[in-house]
Amino acid sequence: MTDPVKRIEELTRELNYHLHRYHVLDDPEIPDVEYDALFDELVALEAANPQLAHPDSPTRRIGATPLAGFASVRHEVPMLSLDKTTTFEELQAWLKRCRGRLADTQVIDLTCEPKIDGVAVALVYEKGLLVRAATRGDGRTGEDITANVRTIGAIPLKLTASDIPARFEVRGEIYMSIAGFDAFNERAVAADERLLINPRNGAAGSLRQLDPRITASRPLTMFCYSLGWVEGDWQPQTHMEVNERLAAWGFRVNDRLKAFPDLAGCQAYLEQLLIERDQLGYDIDGAVIKVNSLEQQRQLGSVTRRPRWAIAYKYPAEEATTRVLAVEFQVGRTGAITPVARLEPVFVGGVTVSNATLHNMDEITRLGLHIGDRVMIRRAGDVIPQIVSVVMNDRPAKAPEVVLPEICPSCGSAVVRIAEEAVARCSVGPGLCPAQAKEAIRHFASRLAMDIEGLGDKLIEQLLEAGLIRTPVDLFSLDADQISGLERMGVKSAENLLNALQKSKTTTFDRFIYALGIREVGEATAQNAAAYFPSIEAMMTASIEDLEAIDDVGPIVAAHIASFFADADNIAMVQGLLACGINWPSVKTRAEGARPLQGQTWVLTGTLEAMPRDEAKRKLMSLGAKVSGSVSAKTSQVVAGPGAGSKLTKAESLGVAVMDEAQLFELFKTHGLDV
Ligand code: IVH
Repeated sequence: MTDPVKRIEELTRELNYHLHRYHVLDDPEIPDVEYDALFDELVALEAANPQLAHPDSPTRRIGATPLAGFASVRHEVPMLSLDKTTTFEELQAWLKRCRGRLADTQVIDLTCEPKIDGVAVALVYEKGLLVRAATRGDGRTGEDITANVRTIGAIPLKLTASDIPARFEVRGEIYMSIAGFDAFNERAVAADERLLINPRNGAAGSLRQLDPRITASRPLTMFCYSLGWVEGDWQPQTHMEVNERLAAWGFRVNDRLKAFPDLAGCQAYLEQLLIERDQLGYDIDGAVIKVNSLEQQRQLGSVTRRPRWAIAYKYPAEEATTRVLAVEFQVGRTGAITPVARLEPVFVGGVTVSNATLHNMDEITRLGLHIGDRVMIRRAGDVIPQIVSVVMNDRPAKAPEVVLPEICPSCGSAVVRIAEEAVARCSVGPGLCPAQAKEAIRHFASRLAMDIEGLGDKLIEQLLEAGLIRTPVDLFSLDADQISGLERMGVKSAENLLNALQKSKTTTFDRFIYALGIREVGEATAQNAAAYFPSIEAMMTASIEDLEAIDDVGPIVAAHIASFFADADNIAMVQGLLACGINWPSVKTRAEGARPLQGQTWVLTGTLEAMPRDEAKRKLMSLGAKVSGSVSAKTSQVVAGPGAGSKLTKAESLGVAVMDEAQLFELFKTHGLDV
């Protein structure tokens, strides 16, 4: 039998190595099940030989007993906060102040790094072992959260390098990744448990748990960015050197930390980081610019708990609070009735927001929203604004609850809500409900559908109000007099619209299917259906089994398609459209060979210069590829244009093939597509 002393030592070392690969380097070597098997072996050996367990054993990360409270910890060196700016001019003024305080001859190198939106902590290591972790608190005194911090896989319990100082303190930010946050909330929704408000609150709340087992179940990680103090011989010279050394010792440091000889470099960095903000995978509220030389940092010192040698450059907040003035109900193309919050206008994520979708009644129940409530709004990137939570202690007296209307706000028909569905619907179709008719026409005319140029919302409304159209078919019998008779329309604009209508008649099969507006048939499904059926007639008469044979179509979507084509109005619409002369080149039904990218997943990143991204995407899809927004080990190919950032880096680190736009065009040409 193997010697338990040796085996325990071996397993501890191996497991810690794999934890580092997984949590710090983001590059696991073994699958989770293998890790789990080694872990279980160690648990069993330690249970049989408790005296042999090492202090850095991964089994000891989770303490078994909850704490009574958090002890106070006095920081040996205070944890400072940062001055903030939002303009480049202020940065110039800051650098000028630094220059003024240093001898004229000194060159000032700067560094830039993301400002992580998490919880600042300080970790003390003695003889290589993590002995204490504390929150920042008020900067002088924080809370001892060692038991919780030990559960975080990215934080080493023991350092093994030969050059570890006897005692030192590492500082950084513990945070929750967006993916971790989303996954946590998805599980919480399924289990009907409380949701986390945002990643930062999630991180703070997780660290404040008295039971470390709860902390252990939360997806926390850490970026380290500085040393609080060091006892030992090593005297680092620069901020960059500190970070390099921290990484070498096994800490997780941010790979976007960069040094620049001047502010121009910093400015370009700040602009680029803002562009990539939503692809980082974690929340940031800006960037931190620091003087690189630690000697210069000492000379500059600090004032009122803020260092003179660093400054935060803040980006527009992605969250803000505002008041809900009203909740209105909109009727969509398929009759779905969606509550929309009308908000007191608020500046968030760089734009003024005055509406936010509430999705459905379940969402309103989950939020506990009343009209008049103060709410937290989040708008990240180009994502539509969301209400994340209600500020419960700021509810006006008699704030009314939100009630689902019993009749459709557009046509007055009954509203129905099927038990298992979250969505409420108008009980009649577009033929009887003006809102649905309008949305159906809007969808029909939209860019990715029939692409009828110039037929915007306003004009559709005018045509409907004048009684000139009821369905998409009616568009094609409009005449110049009817159009030019509308307000703000002249002879020229009428002619333009008629030309656009004429032009739209020559389309593609998949666009036509998509334009019909069948429930849950988006672009991708329409493409798959077009690749599967030789004609629209074949699709209209297909059985459920046949529909389920379309790529990525399951019983629900198949049922939507079948019920769409079982409706006499819809059949009449399709026939009417074909009779107007809508046509598409007959593509031979593409068998396996004609879908050369079948089974592959592609990612487009950066700017495509010669072709809109939508178009490149639909071309790839027509060749059978799936087009995804994020890179993983499963990605088959990345197309990177200028300005490609983290996705490209990730592709390279995973060894995923990368091509540029020119190569993509070559590929399109090879497969007979126009570029
Ligand atoms: S440097 C004395 N670097 O921002 C220098 N701070 O507003 C202070 N923070 O309490 C820390 N990311 O919690 C630094 N890359 C980063 C940071 C960072 C986030 C936080 C930190 C600090 C707060 C100051």
